[in-house]
Amino acid sequence: MIIENIEKIYSTSTEKVIGITNFSYSFEKGKFYAIMGHSGSGKSTLIRILGLMDNATSGKYVINGKDVSKLSDKELSNIRMENIGFIFQDYYLDQNLKAYENVMLPMLINKKIDRSDRKNKAIDLLNNIGLGDRVNHYPKELSGGEQQRVCITRALANNPDYLLGDEPTGNLDEENEIKVLETLKNLSLNGKCVIVVSHSNEVKNYADEVLFIKNGKLVVENEGN
Ligand SMILES: Nc1ncnc2c1ncn2[C@@H]1O[C@H](COP(=O)(O)OP(=O)(O)O)[C@@H](O)[C@H]1O
Ligand SMILES: [Mg+2]
Repeated sequence: MIIENIEKIYSTSTEKVIGITNFSYSFEKGKFYAIMGHSGSGKSTLIRILGLMDNATSGKYVINGKDVSKLSDKELSNIRMENIGFIFQDYYLDQNLKAYENVMLPMLINKKIDRSDRKNKAIDLLNNIGLGDRVNHYPKELSGGEQQRVCITRALANNPDYLLGDEPTGNLDEENEIKVLETLKNLSLNGKCVIVVSHSNEVKNYADEVLFIKNGKLVVENEGN
């Protein structure tokens, strides 16, 4: 994915708030990116735009060679379904569904996965991530780190190229944070593009590239900061 001079202005009833200004970067598959910044610096704004959950006010965003501004709603939702997995700080797992059923959820709208294959596929993915002995557990029967790994597994359900996380280790203790970061690192080594926005310094230790949002600018570590 490539962003060029992406800007986001939020218009509230009383004022205009700058979310991010003129961010440019190119994110490649097979790499782990950490984007750091203080609270309010625009991390969530950026990751939501990259995840096609929100539009930039101006600038260009190209994903898989396609200019996002030129895509129809249907094309956008297809890219969202097939190419982007999203991981949230608060997991957002369905409490009434078992781990494997949560992982199956994104498959339900994917016509390319046979109905009869979904359950086995979900269980395979949970096995791969080291949760083979937790497939039938409900979220409340799992630790925070396990819940986040179920969330990562759910994000992988449709085998996306891009895995995006908004403070994915924000609710975890150090031990579980490391487990989750190791999982994300392995996924990048297996070819995914992993982008994590965070204010946790631990994330930097796993990243191939570290970016900072500083004074409203997106800057690469060691380059002018
Ligand atoms: N929906 C919104 N409406 C108005 N302002 C917003 C909205 N979302 C975020 N902002 C503002 O945009 C800036 C960046 O916010 P955000 O991307 O959430 O930062 P971070 O995730 O780094 O804490 C902040 O000044 C915030 O108040
Ligand atoms: Mg945020």
